[in-house]
Amino acid sequence: MAPGSADAPRRRQAIAIGITGASGAVYATRTLAALLERGVQVELIVSDYGRRLLRDELGEQASIENLGPFLAAKYGDGVGDGTINLHSNRDLGATIASGSHGCSGMAIVPCSMKTMAAVAHGLSRNLIERAADVMLKEQRRLVIVPRETPMSLPQLRNMVLCAEAGAMILPAMPAFYQQPKTLDDLADFMAGKILSALGFEHDLYPAWTGKVAL
Ligand SMILES: Cc1cc2nc3c(=O)[nH]c(=O)nc-3n(C[C@H](O)[C@H](O)[C@H](O)COP(=O)(O)O)c2cc1C
Repeated sequence: MAPGSADAPRRRQAIAIGITGASGAVYATRTLAALLERGVQVELIVSDYGRRLLRDELGEQASIENLGPFLAAKYGDGVGDGTINLHSNRDLGATIASGSHGCSGMAIVPCSMKTMAAVAHGLSRNLIERAADVMLKEQRRLVIVPRETPMSLPQLRNMVLCAEAGAMILPAMPAFYQQPKTLDDLADFMAGKILSALGFEHDLYPAWTGKVAL
């Protein structure tokens, strides 16, 4: 079968997801599930504090070792349509540390102020930082979902540096005009914003119709 022929197996679209130690682990799991439901190959990197926050905020069942079953139980069997490649944050020799990997975009969700500072200054000390740096140098989509409040001047400046370098700053700021009833509704909104930023269609929140549906 010719590689470019209509019958050739289609390669999955690959998206990198970095989970760091900021509050908002549910934004990460909802985003992961939505990408998997769309058949995406997720290149997943979780920092040490990202692992801690998954357990602290979502319970032991959401620990990185149990993440697959957790996502299926919470979001349904559709997550089986995609795949997760879990990388060590310490492995700077991983495929996604190179621009030659066909990853089309990356989201760091949630993004700690520490990791955002590192991206702003191109430090590349671990795989999340390096993969983000690769997205910027290759001029691919990098979505940063920072969570902190209030913010210091250095943190604000680091957001500007990331935006100037080409990243999209998508703060973890869910809206309320869609009348959320549950925490999951808020997570759906943030995951929808992230999917839109990565170029995916979705119905994770209703499109704005011009008036609030009361
Ligand atoms: C329970 C908990 C909640 C935290 N929440 C935040 C947060 O919302 N934003 C943030 O920037 N850092 C937060 N931190 C601090 C980061 O986890 C810490 O700076 C860590 O070094 C980040 O490393 P990482 O970016 O490699 O994950 C939190 C830490 C803990 C233990």
